[in-house]
Amino acid sequence: MTPDPLPTLTAPDREVEELRAALARPLPEIPTRYLYDEHGSELYERITHEPEYYQTRTEIEILERHCRDIAELTRPLEYVELGAGSGRKTHLLLDALETLERCTLLDISGDFLAGSVARLRADYPRLHIRGLVADFLHDLTVLGPGGRRLVTFLAGTLGNLHPKEVPAFLGRVARQLVMGDGMLVGIDLIKDKARLEAAYDDAAGVTAAFNKNILNVVNRKFDADFPVDAFEHRARYDEEHAWIDIRLQANRDVRVHVGALDLDVTFGEGQEIRTELSCKYSPESLAAAAEGTGLVVREVFTDPDRLFADVLLVKADA
Ligand SMILES: C[S@@+](CC[C@H](N)C(=O)[O-])C[C@H]1O[C@@H](n2cnc3c(N)ncnc32)[C@H](O)[C@@H]1O
Repeated sequence: MTPDPLPTLTAPDREVEELRAALARPLPEIPTRYLYDEHGSELYERITHEPEYYQTRTEIEILERHCRDIAELTRPLEYVELGAGSGRKTHLLLDALETLERCTLLDISGDFLAGSVARLRADYPRLHIRGLVADFLHDLTVLGPGGRRLVTFLAGTLGNLHPKEVPAFLGRVARQLVMGDGMLVGIDLIKDKARLEAAYDDAAGVTAAFNKNILNVVNRKFDADFPVDAFEHRARYDEEHAWIDIRLQANRDVRVHVGALDLDVTFGEGQEIRTELSCKYSPESLAAAAEGTGLVVREVFTDPDRLFADVLLVKADA
């Protein structure tokens, strides 16, 4: 059965101006969320099964081991997952959260989210489950009034925000919470360059296909004509910034017309477009980013090899 479409809460004009500004930067950028159309979301799911991509299996192990501790510490009535994707990890938490009455999944990728919501509704008929197609960077007030919430932001998705954006983002999440509510944040921990770079450039080429698909999304959404075969996937670890910098590099001179922007852009051979950052954290650097946001670190759950961590933040002041 095809799930019903969910209402979309994004603003196209804002997106046009955002893309214009992003392409005009000295290092041109394409906003990361365009990686996730339905095909991109499917490719991301495939990445999570690649042997080099330790993040998903490690976070699942952490959640399996600690979901009852998380439930005890938070005892929420509403579970809210930002950037929920396939909802593969959602079951682990829903099974453990015995106090729960409501569940909200929020994601930009509407078709994919509709499938996740339909599956959860079938599996948890007792819960009130809603799906919100929205941008977690701009639209958090769509969550509406609440209290006794647990917000989760898993998979290291926080790492896709530029570090300068993180305190304001955490502050906006905190405003959707009341004292004592929790936010569980998955962070990919700082580690050696070779392991990190392999995770973002798997031998099967799935991450490369995922990255290049962003050009198909821009072509469709903004009436552009990026030649996808003129760009190569690049993923490098920048130790100074502790981030993986994911780019597309032109393998020849390219001229692109972006109809929705009435804009022509040229890329010389070797020129790059940034499509994603994946910032790496330590529990300490996350605690520092949360300073002054109203959220404080309550507990850090990690794996024996300290590859990944799920950090429970709680709302500590109004
Ligand atoms: C790295 S995936 C994580 C998926 C899932 N939470 C997991 O643990 O496997 C990031 C998810 O965030 C969504 N996403 C990316 N940017 C977004 C944005 N600005 N607003 C809402 N969702 C976004 C994507 O569609 C995708 O489902």
